[in-house]
Amino acid sequence: METRLLPTDNEGAVEYAIAHGAELLRTGKLLAFPTETVYGLGANALDEIAVRRIYEVKGRPKDNPMIVHVHAKEQARELMQSVPPCFDELANEFWPGPLTLIVERNAAIPDVVTAGLSGVALRLPDHALARALLRRTALPVAAPSANVSGRPSPTDARMVMDYLDGRIDAVLDGGPCAVGIESTVLDISMKQPVILRPGTVTREDIEDVLQTYVSVTGVDATTPRSPGVKYRHYAPRARLIVFPYSDDDGMAGTLGAAIGQACRREQRTGLLAPERFRGCGEHVFYSLREGTAVDYARHLYAGLATLDAAAVAVIFCPGIPATGIGAAVMNRLCKASGL
Ligand code: TXA
Ligand code: MG
Repeated sequence: METRLLPTDNEGAVEYAIAHGAELLRTGKLLAFPTETVYGLGANALDEIAVRRIYEVKGRPKDNPMIVHVHAKEQARELMQSVPPCFDELANEFWPGPLTLIVERNAAIPDVVTAGLSGVALRLPDHALARALLRRTALPVAAPSANVSGRPSPTDARMVMDYLDGRIDAVLDGGPCAVGIESTVLDISMKQPVILRPGTVTREDIEDVLQTYVSVTGVDATTPRSPGVKYRHYAPRARLIVFPYSDDDGMAGTLGAAIGQACRREQRTGLLAPERFRGCGEHVFYSLREGTAVDYARHLYAGLATLDAAAVAVIFCPGIPATGIGAAVMNRLCKASGL
């Protein structure tokens, strides 16, 4: 199969890409498209055969459910068994945006989408192309991240092609994603809201809106409520070593020593770090710009992919404080490093 890359660099191209993309979804095809977080691999959520193909091409475990993307709050309501009391407050505040809400589903959503779970994950992305596409199809669109299962999520169309070229119908090319890591997943199907996956909508953001305590499920929970969290994730091919946060001088010393040691073992080294750490003896450097949590999120996956492509054996990365958006960044870094 030939995978078409649909450009969106002028008005005519956008119009064609949206019309053609919507047509592909309507006819049971697979289309990767950009969101503000990462690229998704979309199919009509009401088409069981198309959804099954997503599991196949990603090599995704069959018990890992998918997020359903919608174009409006009202469309989300049509897929729910009942509307949780906090739904409106959360959707009004954070939609469109990187917050996925898990609610009890009604019969509209097939079992294959939720892997048989009674809850469905719903999200209204904050990306002009994604929204235009979702509006045009008017279908609920099941879309996991457009990577091969277990690898870093793609944050540009090139990364999607590297993973899925020849296996899906088309990629809508919207350039790099602004956020860079996946949405916060919040379960509101029970009395107490629970964060199942941290993201850039933080626990504090949600607590501010709901004026109530929000818990976060432990990464080592034995029976995870979000099946995806139990699998190894976001992993580059190279070994990734993340150092606990420390001040710049301490970190530069730690990085220099670790890189020196790897070099003596004749390992090719990659350094994924804020610009100010460039030149600690590494073979290949990938810049996390100023090194804010937002910079880390935005450049993390492209950095891992680029260093992998440069065939380094080991990637070093300085950690940041695990507060606010930093909590989501450190969650991805820990998982990518196999912790
Ligand atoms: O930002 C994002 O969320 C991106 C873009 C494309 O929207 N999507 C994404 O999808 O990251 P995926 O499939 O890679 O991750 C979805 C996560 C998984 O951990 C999955 O287990 C969980 O959400 N999930 C999906 N449906 C669920 C459900 N019904 N109950 C519990 N967890 C669910
Ligand atoms: Mg994923």
